[in-house]
Amino acid sequence: MAPTLTPEQAKAFYDRFGAKQDRQGFYENPARRDLIAQADFETAAAVFEFGCGTGDFAARLLAEHLPRQCSYTAVDISGTMVRLARARLAPWRDRARVDPSSGSTTLEAADGAFDRFVSTYVLDLLSDEDIRGLLAEAHRILSPGGRLCLAGLTRGAGPVASLVSGIWEALFAVRPALLGGCRPIALCGYLDPDRWRIEHRSVRTAFGISSEVLVAARLDRETGLQE
Ligand SMILES: C[S@@+](CC[C@H](N)C(=O)[O-])C[C@H]1O[C@@H](n2cnc3c(N)ncnc32)[C@H](O)[C@@H]1O
Repeated sequence: MAPTLTPEQAKAFYDRFGAKQDRQGFYENPARRDLIAQADFETAAAVFEFGCGTGDFAARLLAEHLPRQCSYTAVDISGTMVRLARARLAPWRDRARVDPSSGSTTLEAADGAFDRFVSTYVLDLLSDEDIRGLLAEAHRILSPGGRLCLAGLTRGAGPVASLVSGIWEALFAVRPALLGGCRPIALCGYLDPDRWRIEHRSVRTAFGISSEVLVAARLDRETGLQE
C-alpha cells in the first residue's frame, strides 16, 4: 500500500478541494444517516469533531439532533475548510466553534471534556500510527461512557463493491492524492477491546462505494467499566 498523505499534502489538497467535498454526499450520506441513528446525539452535551470539512455534518447535527444546550467544537487542518465550516455554522455561533489545527493528532482539549467524538471520512486518510494516536486522544478527551462515532471508507462486500474497492486501492497505490488521500480501511480493527465497547458496526454501500459506521463506548482502561 502506498504511503498516506503527509499533513502538509492533506492540507494542500483540502485547501484546493474546499466546497467540492459536499459532492461526496452521494456515497457518504447513507453512512452518516446510520451514524446519526445509532449515536444517540439527542442526549449529547459536548461534541468534538476531528476534520469537520465544510461543516455539513455538524450543521445537520445542530439543526436536527443536538439538544439546544449541547456545545460543538471542531478542528480541521485546512484553512479553506475552517472558513467554510465557520460560515455554515454561524447560526449556532454561541455554541459551535471551529479551530484550525496543525494536523497533529495530539489534541488540546482537556481530559474527559466531551461525550461524543465524531470523525467522518478522516481516519481513512491518516497513517496507521496517526489513527492509533488519534484514538488514544479520543479516549482521553471523552468522559466515562462517552461515545466514539466514526464513519469512513472500507472494503466492499459483494462483487460490485469489491471491484470498486480493488480499483480504488490500485489507484491509491499509484497516486493517493487523486483520491484525497483516502483508502478503504477496517476501523473496527483499530479499537482495543479493553478501551472500547463496540455498540454498533455496519457497512453501507452506495454507488458501489462501501463505508464502515462504528459507534463505540469508552471503557475505563483499568476497570474495563463504562462508567
Ligand atoms: C474527506 S474530508 C471529510 C470531511 C468531513 N468530515 C466530511 O465527512 O465531509 C477530510 C477532512 O479532514 C481534514 N483533515 C485531513 N487531515 C487532517 C488532520 N491531520 N487533522 C485535521 N484535519 C484533517 C481535511 O482538511 C478535510 O476537511
